[in-house]
Amino acid sequence: MSVSEWTKNDVRNSLPDRAAESHKGTFGIALLVAGSEDMPGAAILSGLGAMRSGLGKLAIATDEAVVSHIVSTLPEATYVRNGRYLLSKNEMELSQYRSIAVGPGLPEDGETRAAVERLLKAEVPVVLDAGAIGGRSYEERNSPTILTPHPGEFARMTGKSIGEIENNRASLVSEWAQRLGVTIVLKGYNTLTSFADGSVYKNSTGNSSLAKGGSGDVLTGMILGMLCCNKSWKYAVLNAIYLHGACADYWVKKRSAHSLLAHEISELLPEVWADVE
Ligand code: APR
Ligand code: MG
Repeated sequence: MSVSEWTKNDVRNSLPDRAAESHKGTFGIALLVAGSEDMPGAAILSGLGAMRSGLGKLAIATDEAVVSHIVSTLPEATYVRNGRYLLSKNEMELSQYRSIAVGPGLPEDGETRAAVERLLKAEVPVVLDAGAIGGRSYEERNSPTILTPHPGEFARMTGKSIGEIENNRASLVSEWAQRLGVTIVLKGYNTLTSFADGSVYKNSTGNSSLAKGGSGDVLTGMILGMLCCNKSWKYAVLNAIYLHGACADYWVKKRSAHSLLAHEISELLPEVWADVE
């Protein structure tokens, strides 16, 4: 099983441009479907990650009760109230979005499943995380489908035990990416990404400071944002994973790994990104 490493040089050579004459339309609108009454913070964390990652505009589709929680932290975003419900009823227009992410802070229920079904009909890259990940098959699409499971979610997808997954991470992620015809980001120490052709890329940034609730939500947002501004969706995914981990590596230079908060990852990103440019 051959595994390539996605290095700092690879990131440097594949970062998006930001032309002097660009405007917000240049970078597109991203749609984030996240957050529910009991998990509103996930929408904030993924929204912050997305807005720091190069997109032009962010629309957050979330439950009515969640909107008021987000506004003061993320005044730059716009909202689609009760977006998950509207999606589940096929009552939401999607043609304006350049990339879509769904799942952080969503319950794994019928409404989420119906919303995911609808989103997968859009002809743009779709990232599925957390509550949007389940054991299912994926119809062939013209645009990439990107799943970001942690080992527990990967176990749920595949029916394997977490132990079996951890002992065979590279071969299993490759096998399932090919079998489902999707991209799978298997998170954790040395996150592995497999594309549908079975190729696997290892990420070596990141550390145990990320082992804390919410850090995966930030990653989902970063992938969403980078999908909007990179010419290559594969580069967007691999660069987001690299930079997310690099933020944690920057944190532990001066601060304890015990103490990182997920929303602080997004605060570190501007400096960490500039260091690679
Ligand atoms: N070394 C490097 N990276 C790590 C480490 C580690 N030791 N531990 C965790 N990470 C990284 C992972 O690679 C991933 O990017 O931190 C992130 C953790 O993501 P998740 O496991 O999805 O965790 P979290 O953000 O807390 O998830 C929030 O989503 O998965 C659902 O139900 C879950 O409520 C939870 C929510
Ligand atoms: Mg998660």
